[in-house]
Amino acid sequence: MQFQNKNILIIGASSGIGLELVHLLNSEGANVFAASRNPSDSWPESIQYIKLDVMLEAGILSEVLPAELHGFVYCVGNINLKPFSRITENDLIADFKLNVVGAALSIQQSLKSLKSATAASIVMISSVAARTGMAYHASIAASKAAVEGLAISLAAELSGSQIRVNVVAPSLTDTPLASKLLNTPEKMEASAKRHPIGRYGSVQDISSAIRFLLSPESSWITGQVIPIDGGMSNLKTTF
Ligand SMILES: NC(=O)c1ccc[n+]([C@@H]2O[C@H](COP(=O)([O-])OP(=O)(O)OC[C@H]3O[C@@H](n4cnc5c(N)ncnc54)[C@H](OP(=O)(O)O)[C@@H]3O)[C@@H](O)[C@H]2O)c1
Repeated sequence: MQFQNKNILIIGASSGIGLELVHLLNSEGANVFAASRNPSDSWPESIQYIKLDVMLEAGILSEVLPAELHGFVYCVGNINLKPFSRITENDLIADFKLNVVGAALSIQQSLKSLKSATAASIVMISSVAARTGMAYHASIAASKAAVEGLAISLAAELSGSQIRVNVVAPSLTDTPLASKLLNTPEKMEASAKRHPIGRYGSVQDISSAIRFLLSPESSWITGQVIPIDGGMSNLKTTF
């Protein structure tokens, strides 16, 4: 029960990676505060729901969080794929707001509680596309690269408060967000083959890494971006 009596806020907790993380941390004794626009039917009863739309109202968080917050995870994000010529100003602004501004304002709102806890940990989610060039990813890659910049700067600024800040950078992971990329056997097979390890990601692959970054096992790791991508970002297996 690694997380017994630990208060963990998961924003984007009703689906995909965030939902898996809710179950994982709950099973290890955490008090999970789950924020999203909608609740999930599959949450355990003990979950404390915070209704939140990060595009509108990060400002409510400070009023509802506990005095001490040991972990903060921002699982909100999107996959906005378009040819560069069709990306609009609205796409760029909306992607930045959802992935970067939402995270930054939510962390600001949580800071007092994070500082009050001993050795708190913040985890954000980037994407393999932030550092590996991929066609049609210009807008989301720009926003995810900004998530990484936000995290590394905050890691420096908050180190004096013993708050660690890290990022995980997944490749394609089987969640509702990625369903259009994995909705036929052909797409599933092609996606699996694109990864050196021979498969796309599962929510367990990503949530177990986030769990590690929240835990004391990673207490000397801060300011890092950890690729979780089946080797996609760093390996070349065909010649
Ligand atoms: N899946 C992939 O292949 C993949 C690859 C690389 C990176 N990522 C990143 O991984 C993270 C998690 O993605 P996922 O695949 O788990 O996505 P997902 O299944 O769509 O889950 C996203 C979560 O964010 C919440 N959310 C969305 N908009 C929100 C808003 N305006 N305010 C508050 N909550 C909001 C959703 O809940 P509500 O709809 O109830 O608000 C949901 O709980 C994202 O940052 C994504 O960019 C995913």
